[in-house]
Amino acid sequence: MIMNLNQLLYKEELTRDEIIFLLNLKDQEELNLLYSRADEVRSQYCGDEVHLRGIIDISNFCEQNCVYCGLRQENDALPRFRMTPEEVIETARVITNLGIFTIVIQSGEDAHFDTDIISYIIYQIRQKSNAAITLSLGERTFDEYRAWKIAGADRYLLKHETANPKLYETYHFKQNLSERLEHLKFLKSIGYQVGSGNLIGLPMQTVEDLADDILLCKSLDLDMAAFGPFIPSPQTPYQNKNIGEAELTLKVTAVARIVLKQVHIPATTALDTIDALGREKGLTAGANVVMPDLTPFPYREQYKIYPGKRGSTDDPLVSTERLKKRIEALGRKISYKRGDSLKIDVQT
Ligand code: 5AD
Ligand code: SF4
Repeated sequence: MIMNLNQLLYKEELTRDEIIFLLNLKDQEELNLLYSRADEVRSQYCGDEVHLRGIIDISNFCEQNCVYCGLRQENDALPRFRMTPEEVIETARVITNLGIFTIVIQSGEDAHFDTDIISYIIYQIRQKSNAAITLSLGERTFDEYRAWKIAGADRYLLKHETANPKLYETYHFKQNLSERLEHLKFLKSIGYQVGSGNLIGLPMQTVEDLADDILLCKSLDLDMAAFGPFIPSPQTPYQNKNIGEAELTLKVTAVARIVLKQVHIPATTALDTIDALGREKGLTAGANVVMPDLTPFPYREQYKIYPGKRGSTDDPLVSTERLKKRIEALGRKISYKRGDSLKIDVQT
């Protein structure tokens, strides 16, 4: 490459080949340049505040069979749970009392939580607080997305997982990538702030695929994008595959920040699970969001997408407090606002 690394990092638009080049960097000094450029772009477009999103995992039932995931329907070894609507509403209250003003309601694809039950939960939370409500309930019907938006939901998370259509079908059997993209576009068209993202280090995935993941996030004009390492999960067909690498996850995070600019990017729990300093490294390589798991006992230990999830055996309030300290130790401020999309003007 004729251009030097510094020139490349300051280019306004990166081509696919340039993204691949950056993802292939190995030299530690060059990686440090990449991470510090990502940190600079993060500071310029998102500021220095770190937004907290309180997660409630409301059900670990799932009708899908994603080949990498511990919640897949065919995993008979996993004890399944559903929270009651009252438990969910009470947990949302605990989250807002902590000064966290985004509530993420998350589950496997579980039809038990139907249009009415989710609408009821949203409506009840909305009655008591102006916190942003994010749904992460998998692929649901367009009518449901619409009903939940009307009930008061603000955001929807639906990861694209991989931008390679062949790999997508290999990992997901019944589902296909084009359908998932239709869902993401529909969600955006009816006014949700939309988050997506991928898994890093899945079997057969290449660096070219990861470049396409970043470019797909760009073309979807996302408000949020999450990049997490694949962690092999017992009782799944991929239980003996290689674990995703922390360094590759950081490279994807950093390049995504440089390409996507004003998008919320979390330092993921999965990264923190495979690297003891995962949050710190993510937050200094482009990330500006942290998503503490506030699911109460006993459920929090049963949401076993992958093993060893950091914090899942700790008291949720204690582990959230510890997370806040880690963020502040980096010299970053914690935001006590909703932290809406940086692309729209709805901050309160
Ligand atoms: N390792 C890491 N992340 C996983 N997910 C599913 N299985 C794994 C795994 N084994 C992520 C997917 C999905 C979300 C529910 O969790 O990206 O969107
Ligand atoms: Fe279900 Fe999501 Fe896991 Fe797939 S990744 S099996 S849809 S919880």
